[in-house]
Amino acid sequence: MAIECKHPLIQTKLSIMRDKKTSSKEFRESLTEIGSLMCYKVFEDLEVVDGENIVTPTNAVLPKKELANHIVLAPILRAGLGMVDGVRNMLPTARIGHIGMYRDEETLIPHEYYFKLPEVDNPLVVLIDPMLATGGSAVAAIDAIKKRGYNNIRFMCLVAAPEGIKVVEDAYPEIKIYCAAIDEKLNEHGYILPGLGDAGDRIFGTK
Ligand code: PRP
Ligand code: URA
Repeated sequence: MAIECKHPLIQTKLSIMRDKKTSSKEFRESLTEIGSLMCYKVFEDLEVVDGENIVTPTNAVLPKKELANHIVLAPILRAGLGMVDGVRNMLPTARIGHIGMYRDEETLIPHEYYFKLPEVDNPLVVLIDPMLATGGSAVAAIDAIKKRGYNNIRFMCLVAAPEGIKVVEDAYPEIKIYCAAIDEKLNEHGYILPGLGDAGDRIFGTK
């Protein structure tokens, strides 16, 4: 299931990112801010449990509210790194893994070159990558996460192509896909239209 986070602040910041005149600095800042804003939707159904008591300045005694699940954030390198800080700002106790994946520019087939997730009991794993294009990278990353025995997974991206959403949904119908926008389609080079170009290059200034 794909869930579009249509909050006005997200939509205005996303349009800054789509502008080809936007600097790498402003692109990164907007991505971080959208990452934080999207947390409101992505984590709205998390279970909250009572921890130890706290005392308020008015001397009321209340149980501290804590998340029931451990959270592991799993950005796909490189572009996922640009979104992870915004999410981590909202979830400071989340542990971070890394999934190294690049797609061959000719074949568009993803290649895994690195995988490390923290060892945590029964976590919610949040796969993070701003771009869902053909869906090849997301499915390969989910395959890799599941192979290590993690089954509670959701996917957080920024811009999603309908083609990629379908590929992920067909492979993993149980995994929720959260995005800021569902765009129109892919071009003949596998880029999202209208999209925002190559997210990794714009975050890291490689081109
Ligand atoms: C981009 C993007 C995704 C992938 C999406 O990464 O960050 O990981 O392409 O495309 P797909 O849905 O067709 O697989 P890229 O492979 O360019 O690597 P990079 O982040 O290192 O630039
Ligand atoms: N990866 C990107 O960075 N942008 C796209 O449009 C497609 C894949």
